[in-house]
Amino acid sequence: MVSRADAEVVVLPELALSGYFFTSRTELDAVALERSSPILDAIARIAQQQSKAIIVGFPEKDGQRLYNTAVLLGPSGQRHYYRKTHLFYKERLVFDEGNTGFEVVSVVPFDLRIGMMICYDWRFPEAARTLALAGAELIACPSNLVTHIWRMAMPVRALENKVYLAVANRIGSETSGDETLHFNGRSAIYNYNGTVLAELPADTEGIAVAPIEPERTRTKSFNPYNDLFADRRPWAYRIDNSSS
Ligand code: ACM
Repeated sequence: MVSRADAEVVVLPELALSGYFFTSRTELDAVALERSSPILDAIARIAQQQSKAIIVGFPEKDGQRLYNTAVLLGPSGQRHYYRKTHLFYKERLVFDEGNTGFEVVSVVPFDLRIGMMICYDWRFPEAARTLALAGAELIACPSNLVTHIWRMAMPVRALENKVYLAVANRIGSETSGDETLHFNGRSAIYNYNGTVLAELPADTEGIAVAPIEPERTRTKSFNPYNDLFADRRPWAYRIDNSSS
């Protein structure tokens, strides 16, 4: 599928190399990968051979710790990791909380800065805001979304930060014990004004492609008087309980 994607940046879903629904740490540990695993090396080679940046989710093993991680494998051999900060639902039973924070990577040799967040991170405006303030032009969001409400907020994350946002969301279902999770697809690429540039169906595997112009996100102004970042007033956002 990566070779069929006519794109320089390819975003795959959260935990794409393992599946999602783990309720036992032992079961997760059995499929978790170290950063230097053969499968990641193989995908890194594909990225270099095809001159693409590939972003893919996998369960990361680091000593005794297990993270819900996404890696950016760049066209020139670059690797950048993000460990999911906000753990969702039963992820709390099996994963350790991510400790990387939200960082932006400049993709060599593309003139493009990418920030990664994973799935439920969407629910925290601080995640996308931090990435945008750090210079992200495209936010890549590998996902395994099980609700529908994200479709209201994800485009807002793009427009409130004036960044492109690509959500790769899986389809299908997974069962653990007597519980089944249904994943609702609709992978999408949002423009920096929140409109949809490309979208996939809810129940069919596919590839969504859209052209982006990263330089357009480098100014945050949207009329001669307003600029999303210059207009921020951090002093007014402080919580001060001393007078109450
Ligand atoms: C999710 O964070 N996988 C919903």
